[in-house]
Amino acid sequence: AKPALPDFKDCIDATQPNGTPINCCPPAVANIPDYVPSATTIRTRMAAQSFTVDSDYYNKYSSAIQKMRNLSLTDPRNFTQQANVHCAYCDGGYTQKGYPNLLYEIHNSWMFFPWHRWYLYFFEKICQNLIDDDTFTLPFWNWDAPEGMQIPPIFNSGVQSPLYNCLRNPAHLPPTVVNLDWSNDDVTVPPNVQIKYNLATMYKQMITQSKTPADFFGSPYRAGDETPEINTAGQIEQTPHNHVHSWTGTIVDPDNPIDMGALYSAARDPIFYAHHANIDRLWTIKLNQLKGTNFTDPDWLNAYFIFYNEEAKPVRVRIQDCLDPTKLGYTYEDVPIPWIDVST
Ligand code: C2O
Repeated sequence: AKPALPDFKDCIDATQPNGTPINCCPPAVANIPDYVPSATTIRTRMAAQSFTVDSDYYNKYSSAIQKMRNLSLTDPRNFTQQANVHCAYCDGGYTQKGYPNLLYEIHNSWMFFPWHRWYLYFFEKICQNLIDDDTFTLPFWNWDAPEGMQIPPIFNSGVQSPLYNCLRNPAHLPPTVVNLDWSNDDVTVPPNVQIKYNLATMYKQMITQSKTPADFFGSPYRAGDETPEINTAGQIEQTPHNHVHSWTGTIVDPDNPIDMGALYSAARDPIFYAHHANIDRLWTIKLNQLKGTNFTDPDWLNAYFIFYNEEAKPVRVRIQDCLDPTKLGYTYEDVPIPWIDVST
């Protein structure tokens, strides 16, 4: 078999949950060189809840996002363009290379973890570049520990903040405790009980239910396979990943949730990148603390994606080159992992 690949030349309208088409295509390009990272310095991505809105860190991050928002809409580093990268790769913006009748999709399969790792890598590089500070790192939304189980303060400091988004569920703003297994209901339990439930959810999804690479990462997705659906997603992608999305977003129209609540719009909310940094961190925990393993299947290792880098140039990157975060130049702050010895 061969890897499933996106046909980057063939970007078409994506489709919103209610069926309305939306154009998320990046600017067209001719030559796309391969890119292999070779970081020499390792920076630490920190837990978002450790920063206040009067910290230097908040100033840096909000200024990076404001600069992205200020770029011309035709610049692939523009904030909306960056959000559209996610939209195009997940709502039918590309067909599968060699299979013009199949839509390419990076969710619901083994593409999920590595695609988002690369996406954050370039997003972080763009932030570093715009504020001219290569020590800058993205924060992670540490929703798997009690200290991080609500929307972090830096993302909730008012409408004028570049890190704010008004399309979040008003019932879920701080101090509401996140429900990692939220299912569009309003059943609430006291915060201390919700925290216990969340820790049990983490233990179940990371340990009990994730015995094999396919359980954890999602099922294989190869050339010619049908567009993957939710049932082939890995355990973490389904819960807490999908549930934190829908818990955060708004439901103005139940058929067409917006911003964090739907894939086409999720990356318009700056908290998206912190949510995914935590997902990415869970991958490192699975390998290190939990002694899990990556796939060794060449169809996974050789699969590639195309992104625009910090110079607004397109590059082709492979899964095999993102497996070691230190080669990408980052690691995660070593915060407590309270679910790791919670038994269910
Ligand atoms: Cu690409 Cu959190 O989704």
